[in-house]
Amino acid sequence: MKNITTVLEYHDRTKHRPSRYAASLGYMDWATQPNPFRRYEGTELIPLKLNTITPPYHLLFGEDLPSAPLCLESVSQLLRYALGLAAWKSHSGSRWALRCNASSGNLQPSECYILAPALEGISDHPTLSHYAPNEHALEILHQFDTPLKIENDTILIALSSIFWREAWKYGERCWRYCQLDAGHAYQAIKISAAALGWECTILSVDSGEIGHLCGLDQLRRFDPHELESPDMLLRLSLSSHEISDIDLPAVPPLDSRANLLSPSHHDWPILEVIDTATQGLYPLTHPLTQSRITPPPSKSAGEIILKRRSAQMMDGSSITEEQFRRLLNASLFCRETSDVHFALFVHRVEGLPKGLYTYVRNTSDLESLKQAMDTTFEWKDYGEGLYLLREGDYRGAAQMISCNQEIAKDGAFSFGMLCRFGESLETYGAIGYKNLYHQCGAIGQMLYLEATSLGLSATGIGCFLDDEFHALLGMHDLKYQSLYHFTIGRAIIDTRIMTLEPYTH
Ligand SMILES: Cc1cc2nc3c(=O)[nH]c(=O)nc-3n(C[C@H](O)[C@H](O)[C@H](O)COP(=O)(O)O)c2cc1C
Repeated sequence: MKNITTVLEYHDRTKHRPSRYAASLGYMDWATQPNPFRRYEGTELIPLKLNTITPPYHLLFGEDLPSAPLCLESVSQLLRYALGLAAWKSHSGSRWALRCNASSGNLQPSECYILAPALEGISDHPTLSHYAPNEHALEILHQFDTPLKIENDTILIALSSIFWREAWKYGERCWRYCQLDAGHAYQAIKISAAALGWECTILSVDSGEIGHLCGLDQLRRFDPHELESPDMLLRLSLSSHEISDIDLPAVPPLDSRANLLSPSHHDWPILEVIDTATQGLYPLTHPLTQSRITPPPSKSAGEIILKRRSAQMMDGSSITEEQFRRLLNASLFCRETSDVHFALFVHRVEGLPKGLYTYVRNTSDLESLKQAMDTTFEWKDYGEGLYLLREGDYRGAAQMISCNQEIAKDGAFSFGMLCRFGESLETYGAIGYKNLYHQCGAIGQMLYLEATSLGLSATGIGCFLDDEFHALLGMHDLKYQSLYHFTIGRAIIDTRIMTLEPYTH
């Protein structure tokens, strides 16, 4: 109960309000800008391959893709199209890297660790390694003397977050963004695994065990301000396996030391409080039962993944109803996100009246959503889980709620991800709070890719006025809370920014 109180206090305290945004530095302290690339000094670096042939995107969602063998080439492809660099951008003398996984402010808090059996080209022992995206290489943290007790067609991937990277810019609200980013990273891995015909499942493992597996609890290896918090453990395998208890190997004291990311730091003590409260056994939620429609034939998965970019401005044009419905439906590929519904501002979708809609992704919540929202809403049924709540022009409201960002009004539509909040905390405890952000982030990554495959663009919106949105929906309790916002439309490209190929350096 103590942990739930901590969650509720953190959630309330980090809401953006019209009169007061969540606490942050309020300016960009460029002298302490964190390095987005973690490296472990003293490790052997194994370069990965840069293969470019991936199957057509639409085939990722069927059953027909044969599984690629587990080898150096497939692990290389997996990591490149999940968490690798997608492009370098340059403008006015500065240069920055963008990655396959979207990240709030491009601050990239997520780190990735791989537990793999002996693989030719990597090691003739099982290894624990860290992925270095800038080099597209594995840093070997440990080689095990005995075989791993996992299936031999399987690797495990752990994700963790370095809160400092996000705290630098976003202060106290940053813990939320780190969790959303972890959800994006998870879905990016899942999609890249699907391109290899592999299964990717989240395991129900305790945070402490994940931290131990990656050596994150060996605190002497890290600057105390730059610790990593374990997020989740994934099983990637060539075939389906029963979810069973997993026997993780003991990791001895490691010699390598994490690089220093910033010369000095600002303290945000609440981050440790919320992090400690939300550790625990990762929950396995009920899967969605609705199925997604297979997308039409498309470009290669790799091309879509590398082309995915956040729009910084939208052109205010319309999209078709078919595109709109495909986008909503694509979110159903994220099966483990049954606690999330959408409340949408539809601005310009041909054939649909402008207005406030809801997309009920899990039909068993229909009645509870109706009860939670304004009782005067129409709930006009538009089929496939889509309901019109009230007709009207919501462009101004969308912009205002998204911290005055114009992309929310200039997209064809924007929306908030309404999460079954109170019940998730009751069922799963404090870690349920973290899991809801992971669900939202996963949906975000999926929708970015689907938008790209349809020739459209998207942008995740972490900056929104929480309770203004809830009030507009007539929601005044914690049954549902919106944890992530999003906009989709057609981007205006800023031609002053140059794009360079990744991995030419
Ligand atoms: C959780 C999250 C929150 C974000 N919030 C915003 C936002 O409020 N406004 C915005 O313009 N972009 C936002 N973005 C987009 C990021 O700035 C963008 O992903 C990042 O700059 C990397 O660019 P890319 O997506 O093109 O790779 C957000 C992205 C994520 C993943």
